[in-house]
Amino acid sequence: MRDSSETALRLPAHIRATKPYQPGKPIDALAREIGVRPEAIVKLASNENPLGMSAAARAVLTDAGTELARYPDNDCHALLAALSRRFDVPAECLVPGNGSECVLGLAATAFLEPGRNAVYAQYSFQAFVNAVQRTGAAHKVVPAHNYGCDLEAMLAAIDENTALVYLANPGNPTGSFVSGASLERFLTAVPSHIPVLLDEAYSEYLPVDDCYDSLAWVRGFPNLIVTRTFSKAYGLAGLRVGYGVAQPPLAALLNRIRPAFVVTALAERAAVAALNDEAFLVRSCAENHKGLAQLYAGFDSLGLHYLRSRANFVLVQVGDAAMVNASLLRQGVIVRPVGVYGLPDWLRISVGTGAENLRCLAALQQAMQA
Ligand SMILES: Cc1ncc(COP(=O)(O)O)c(C=O)c1O
Repeated sequence: MRDSSETALRLPAHIRATKPYQPGKPIDALAREIGVRPEAIVKLASNENPLGMSAAARAVLTDAGTELARYPDNDCHALLAALSRRFDVPAECLVPGNGSECVLGLAATAFLEPGRNAVYAQYSFQAFVNAVQRTGAAHKVVPAHNYGCDLEAMLAAIDENTALVYLANPGNPTGSFVSGASLERFLTAVPSHIPVLLDEAYSEYLPVDDCYDSLAWVRGFPNLIVTRTFSKAYGLAGLRVGYGVAQPPLAALLNRIRPAFVVTALAERAAVAALNDEAFLVRSCAENHKGLAQLYAGFDSLGLHYLRSRANFVLVQVGDAAMVNASLLRQGVIVRPVGVYGLPDWLRISVGTGAENLRCLAALQQAMQA
């Protein structure tokens, strides 16, 4: 048999150095490991919507019929038309993706190569790191300020080789937030030949007072790409639908290099239905707000330090996070250790239903006493 080891394949050094994405542990995997039914497991590890998805989206899925024997619409016409109507942006500005992670990756593919660099903040989403690494470009990781982006320092880090800036707002895993006014100043200061990808995976959860109109900025900044997803507040994480918004030339470039049929037919139909069910979105955000307050109160009573979050998860400092996580898993509760982000004392806990949050807090109390 041929030697297919990485050495024999003569991989480029930057590909050899890639690390796999570490997702939250699947419910079924833990159920098998600890010998319980999957229904007994609480998963608060991947910032999914604890309410599931809109009934309208679910109805579309059960009614998909035989159309799945055909390829999807490569242009995602129905989805782009729905997004265009909903957000008042021309369809030529939209880039559909297999999750927004796909669009983050397209930006890296388009702009990065060895000799160039990408600027992003410490504690940034792992997918930024991986997307940059796959291109062979250098990482310019800017130290965080209070666990959030230091925009001044990010500006200062930009140099003649910078070819992409990634910024998530709110950020994952810290839940940090920079105001719309600061972001707009930042965008104005970044040289217009350097693309800035503003990742808004959690923007639906922002309290009204913190909302800003990034899609209006797209009209003014030819280098801005805003990405959003159906995986979080819309509850369609398993279907993988996201999108980018940019001025038409930039959107056309990203569309040119995206894989064919990037959104499945089923996912497209469900995303359109979800987009039109505003009431579900409002309810999801209200529940998230309540759940965050519930988790904060629980952490307060356990005497645990945590970071106030603008998203659907909270970072809580538990000391020996590996040990606490192991105890939580034994109790059937999956959360996310964040050692890979350089935060070995912390756990990231997604907001669940009221009952799930209670189970998690009770398990945490037991784990902390052990
Ligand atoms: C900051 C951030 N951006 C993007 C994503 C990717 O979401 P998706 O690819 O499911 O759209 C996530 C998922 O956890 C995230 O936390």
